[in-house]
Amino acid sequence: MDTAILAESLGKTYTRRKRADGFWAGLRAYFSFESETVAAVSDLSFRIERGESVGLIGENGAGKSTTVKMLTGILVPTHGRVETLGVVPARERRKLAQSMGVVFGQKPQILWDIPARESFRLLKVMYAVPDDVFRFTYHEAVERLELGDFLDTPVRLLSLGQRMRCDLAASLLHAPAVAFLDEPTIGLDVLVKERVREHLIEMRRRFGTTIVLTTHDLKDITATCERLLVLDRGRLLYDGSREGFEQRFAVGRTLVVALEHEADAPTRRALEAELSSEEVTFVWDTPHRLRVECARSASAPRVTASVLEHLRVADLSVQGAELDAIVTRLYRSGKAAAE
Ligand SMILES: Nc1ncnc2c1ncn2[C@@H]1O[C@H](COP(=O)(O)OP(=O)(O)OP(=O)(O)O)[C@@H](O)[C@H]1O
Ligand SMILES: [Mg+2]
Repeated sequence: MDTAILAESLGKTYTRRKRADGFWAGLRAYFSFESETVAAVSDLSFRIERGESVGLIGENGAGKSTTVKMLTGILVPTHGRVETLGVVPARERRKLAQSMGVVFGQKPQILWDIPARESFRLLKVMYAVPDDVFRFTYHEAVERLELGDFLDTPVRLLSLGQRMRCDLAASLLHAPAVAFLDEPTIGLDVLVKERVREHLIEMRRRFGTTIVLTTHDLKDITATCERLLVLDRGRLLYDGSREGFEQRFAVGRTLVVALEHEADAPTRRALEAELSSEEVTFVWDTPHRLRVECARSASAPRVTASVLEHLRVADLSVQGAELDAIVTRLYRSGKAAAE
C-alpha cells in the first residue's frame, strides 16, 4: 500500500514565558523573561496509508491540533520525523497544498471580504482543478452542505456555522489526496453535522481521500472513521481499528437511571450491598442521576430489578458499549491516574 502520512518519534515542545502564582511572583516572572517548556506531543509514531480514514481524539490539550499542525507543515517538529505524501511538510508546504485540504474549525480560513462563490472560483484557478473534478466537488458541496442561500454573501457576514461549511467546501474543492480536518463540526447544529459527515464520506468514496479528523463529537468518528488514534497528554494511547478499540475497552453496558427523589445514604448502601456479587460500578452524576456500569459478566436483568426495587425511578435506559461511553470512561480514568 501507498503511505500517505508517516510520523516517527514525532514531538513538539513549546517554549513559553514562565508563569507564577501570586502578584509579586507573577510580576517577577514577567520581568525576568524566564521561560518554561511544555511538551505538547511526545514520541508519536504511526503510519497512515492512502485512503484510510483516521479519527484523532483526546481530551482538551492532548496535542491533537499540534499534531495536525506538524503533519500539515504549519509547525516544525522539535523531535522526530514527519512525511506527508512523501515530503517533509514544513519544507514543502506550497507543493503539498496542491494535494492537501486543511480545516481548522476553530479558525476558518476562507477569504473574509468576498463571497464564497468567488473564493471557490479562485481556488479552481489556483489549484488548476480539472473541470470535471470541479463540477463534481462544487455541486456536491453546494448541495450537500446547503450553501446555495449564502453563496453570494461576503463571508464575514455569515454565521459561524455557515462560514464553517464554506470553509470545508473550499478545502475539498480540489479533491485533495489528504484532508486534515481539525474539529470541522464545531458549533454546527445536529442536522448540519450530519451533512458534513455525509460530505466527507462522499468525497472519500469518489476520490479515495485520506482523512485525518479531529473532533470532540464522537459521532463524527463513528460515522466516518475506521481507524482511531487516541492521544493522552501528548502520547499515543491507542492506534488501531475503531472496532478493536470498542472491543478492547468496552466494559459492557451502562444502566442510566433518573430518580424521582434523591436517594439517601442508607438506600444507596443497601443497593450497592445487594449487587456486591455483580461486577458493577456506581457513578452518581448528580443526586438524581445514577449510572451503573455493568461488566460483561454482570446480569443486566438482575441489576435492573435491584435498581427498580430500591430506588424511585423516573426514567431508565441502557447504553451499549458505544464509543462515547468508552471514551468518557477512559478520559475519567486517565484523570484519576494523573491525580
Ligand atoms: N502556541 C503555544 N504555545 C505554548 N503552548 C501551547 C501552544 N499551543 C498549544 N500549547 C499547549 O500544548 C498542549 C497541546 O495543545 P493542542 O492545541 O495541541 O491540544 P488539542 O488536543 O488540540 O486540544 P483541544 O481539544 O482543546 O483543541 C496544551 O497543553 C497547550 O496548552
Ligand atoms: Mg485542538
